[in-house]
Amino acid sequence: MTRVLLLGGTAEARALAAALVDAGFDVVSSLAGRVSKPRMPVGDVRVGGFGGVGGLAGVLVGGGFTHLVDATHPFAVRMTANAGTASAIAGVPCLRLARPGWSEHADAGSWHWVDDYDKARVAAEALGAARPFITTGRQTLEHYASWADRDVVLRVVEALEEEAPARWTVLLDRGPFEVADERALLSRHQVDVVLTKDSGGAYTAAKLTAAAELGVSVVVVRRPAVPAGVAEVETVGEVLTWLT
Ligand SMILES: NC(=O)c1ccc[n+]([C@@H]2O[C@H](COP(=O)([O-])OP(=O)(O)OC[C@H]3O[C@@H](n4cnc5c(N)ncnc54)[C@H](OP(=O)(O)O)[C@@H]3O)[C@@H](O)[C@H]2O)c1
Repeated sequence: MTRVLLLGGTAEARALAAALVDAGFDVVSSLAGRVSKPRMPVGDVRVGGFGGVGGLAGVLVGGGFTHLVDATHPFAVRMTANAGTASAIAGVPCLRLARPGWSEHADAGSWHWVDDYDKARVAAEALGAARPFITTGRQTLEHYASWADRDVVLRVVEALEEEAPARWTVLLDRGPFEVADERALLSRHQVDVVLTKDSGGAYTAAKLTAAAELGVSVVVVRRPAVPAGVAEVETVGEVLTWLT
């Protein structure tokens, strides 16, 4: 009996869980428990870390899982690395499901692509960022600590544990976003540089269109590479084909 462990926390993972349940598969979705109000997938769900590679391998074997699908966010680097290693240890095949990035976006050629968050800060400073809009995530804030001296607009899903610098505006919100709302936000705060990561998908792409319309510069952090030996697909259909 095929039994799937689905590492989730994304729209793709929720879509896959729905398709697998519809198709009669035995599937358990796994969430990290990082956000207080997660969007729940259909079917069985477990919440919380595994305790590293060993913990995940133990769950795969102990839970009688026959397949592991990693549909976590393209920037969930550690979970994806652990999935690749644990599946090899447990002898359970692993497949990665990830939405395409924005490299094919019409405006991608005008963006400033960088390899990490420090380089993103430096690129934005070189662009004269006085009112930057940070959307790279709560876990990346240490890279912008020096920006207490400017009027940053920060958008995160969850409230910050620590106090933001006095000149910062912190917005709590999650996608999907509309172009008109993003245009209004960028104008209201007179944003001069948008900092994002190549998350891909439609949920958070609207700011890129609004930035192009307003002539606002965009700095994009490239995706981390997928672990060697783990195949990656872009659609739910490809996962179903792999499972059958
Ligand atoms: N990074 C983003 O920008 C982003 C955006 C939207 C959604 N998410 C979702 O949020 C979750 C955490 O992302 P992250 O960037 O913090 O990941 P990460 O840095 O790669 O993972 C850190 C640790 O969190 C636990 N973890 C992560 N995903 C898990 C899952 N699906 N089920 C159980 N444990 C999980 C694992 O703990 P153990 O080592 O204890 O197993 C992992 O080592 C992921 O599910 C991801 O899909 C992330």
